[in-house]
Formats: sequence, structure tokens, C-alpha cells
Amino acid sequence: MAKINDNFIKLPESYLFSDISKKVNTYKTEHPEAKVIRMGIGDVTLPLTGEVIQSLHAATDEMAQAATFKGYGPEQGYRFLTETIVKEAYLPLGIQLDPEEIFISDGAKSDTGNFGDILSKENRIAVTDPVYPVYIDSNVMGYRAGELGSNGKWSNIVYLPCTPDNNFVPALPQEKIDVVYLCFPNNPTGTTLTRDQLKVWVDYAIKNDVLILFDAAYEAFITEKEVPHSIYEIENAKKVAVEFRSFSKTAGFTGTRCGYTVVPKELLLSCEEGDKKVSLNKLWNRRQCTKFNGTPYIIQKAAEATFSPKGKEEVKALIDYYMSNAKIIRESLENIGMKVFGGVNSPYIWMKTPEGFSSWEMFDKLLKEVNIVTTPGVGFGPSGEGFIRFSALGNREDTLEAMERIKHWNIKK
Ligand code: MLT
Repeated sequence: MAKINDNFIKLPESYLFSDISKKVNTYKTEHPEAKVIRMGIGDVTLPLTGEVIQSLHAATDEMAQAATFKGYGPEQGYRFLTETIVKEAYLPLGIQLDPEEIFISDGAKSDTGNFGDILSKENRIAVTDPVYPVYIDSNVMGYRAGELGSNGKWSNIVYLPCTPDNNFVPALPQEKIDVVYLCFPNNPTGTTLTRDQLKVWVDYAIKNDVLILFDAAYEAFITEKEVPHSIYEIENAKKVAVEFRSFSKTAGFTGTRCGYTVVPKELLLSCEEGDKKVSLNKLWNRRQCTKFNGTPYIIQKAAEATFSPKGKEEVKALIDYYMSNAKIIRESLENIGMKVFGGVNSPYIWMKTPEGFSSWEMFDKLLKEVNIVTTPGVGFGPSGEGFIRFSALGNREDTLEAMERIKHWNIKK
């Protein structure tokens, strides 16, 4: 008899952002006159830049000629892109990588979600709380989460609270863990770790044989000097960390899809049986070659264009635009007396809900009273209760209008 993987039915019925989208659509059907402003899912709004579009067109033209047409590409990504990433994204940080340590993909969501394929079901997983839901859900699917308790926590997952009480810096776990997901700048809180704070984690991982899955999807938004752009800025991190990066928020690729994962060759993990150590780079390569046929050539050419001198300027302009939105949101919320975090090195602003409001109550209130969509903090985990997230990735006009609405709104009534 064919059977399903029961873990899928243990998961909440739908993914957080699908849930929110359903709620918003219902509201819009009931109130067709409402001008709803979306500050929920972190989706970009500015179009692709000139360099990217030019490169996409040129690559498309290549596909139209027999002499330059491309069929299957390398599963790991074209060398022109992996070499450019080594040279343009890492060398300026003083990090030396081999192009074979970079795997191009269709985005960090897929890679963070799929990486568990090459890890033992026996691993004890730790996540910061609140957390990007993909890390948890994919470990539920991968038999590592146990059961969901009434406290909103999975029994086999170790939660590391990140709240104002610890300045959003996760404490090292008290119990034995094998793998930890760290995302900095953080989604959803928008907060960061300094180099010294990240070093504590790298040292801990080396000492305790822990694998760090480091999601750096938002590194391009960093404005402060002491915040590292890559975990490999920390000495010896290549021995213990995989890094995920993305063109989505950086260069407007949420719909175009391109990201990459760095799996250092010196990163070795033990087998389930015996003492043998195996290279994760080899295993990830093996996994990708079986389950993935590579990111489309034209998309990789588009991604490459973001690293040309003009491409870099254009990307910087995109980031500056969104970070100006972030400043507007932060200041407007502060001006009405709200406590806010993030928004300085990230496009997310994490707001404490006023006394007496849960995350979902605040979400509903904002939707119904001022027609603004946010993301309820509790959707990211138990420690997100009592917070909501604003995304600064909307357009300026909507951001200003949303903040104007909030200014004239009695949030506490
Ligand atoms: C978010 O809003 O948290 C992100 O858009 C989710 C994602 O990148 O998948």
C-alpha cells in the first residue's frame, strides 16, 4: 500500500504567507473599495535594473541562434557566474573561495529547504526563535522535528529565543545539538550579530562538532561596519558553516529566481555509522546533480550583470531606496510611541504590539482599520508573539501613505 510521509499532515495546513494572502483576499472581496497596502511578505517592487535587463535580452538572443544556443548547463552553475561571485562578492571581504565551492540555484528558499536531504535524520536541530518558517517546516518533512506541542514548539527542535531581553542575540544552547540555522541580518526581526557575536557561534560550532547553516540572504542591506556580510569573515568558519545567499531582495530577483550556496571543501561531517568523515561539498554536488538541472542560462547571465561596475551601482540604488523606506517606517512608528527593532541593516522592521494585543489581533486591526498588511510575529515562532513585522520592500508612495494612515490612527483604541 502506498503511504504518505505523515510529517506533512503534522504541519500547519498552509504556509504562513499563503495564510496571510488568503485573509487579505477575503478582506478585499468583502471590501472592494479598500486600498490595501502590502507590507507583509518581503517581496520587492522595483523593476529589474537596466544592466540586468540588457543581459537578459542578450542571453535570450543567444538562445535564438544555433551557434550560441544552450541546452542543459552545469548543475552547479556556469563557471562565468561562480567565478564572478568568488571575485566580486567574496574577495573584497578578504575571503578566498574556489568556484567549485559555489552552487548556483533558484534561490535561498529552495537551498535552505533542501539542504536537509544530505543530513542525518538523527541530527538535533536548533533554530533561533522567531525564525524563517522554511527551516522548521523542511525539518518536519525530514523527520527531525518530532511533534508540535500546544506551546507552538516542535518537541525535537531546540528553540533559541531572540527577544529584546537578549538584544536579539541567541544564547548558546544548553543541550547537545548537531545543526543550527542562523540568519543574519535576521528575517524576521531585522536585527544582526556583530563579528564578535558571530565568532562566539563559530568557536562553539568548532568545539562541539556543530554544523552552522548560515542564511545571509539580506547581507546587501547591511549599513554598519561591525556587522559581517559573510560568516567566512570569521576565522575557521569554513570548517563548520554553509552559507546561503540570494539575488532576490538584493537585485529584485524574487520573481526571476537566482541564489547560491557556498559549501566549503574543508567542511567535513561524520557518517551515521563509523568514524569516517565525508565532504559536504561532494554530497551537495551529488544531491544537486540528481535533483536539479541547473538555473536557466539567461537567469545566470542576468545575475552576473549585477556585478558589473554599472550593475553594482544599480543594485546599490535599489538597496538605498528600500533602506530609505525602512527609515521612514522606523521613524514613523517611533513617532507614534511604538517600540521598534531592525530596519537599520535589513528591510524588516519588527514592532512590539501595544499592551494587550497579540500578533494576530494587531495584524487584523491594521488590516481592517487602516488597510495595511503586515506579518504577525507569532507566525515565525512562539517568541514572535506580541510583535508584527513591516516590510520596507514596497514602493515609496505606498510606504508614505501607509505611515500617514498610521499617524492619524489611534493604534491603542
Ligand atoms: C519573507 O517575507 O519572509 C520572505 O519574502 C520570504 C522568502 O524570502 O521566502
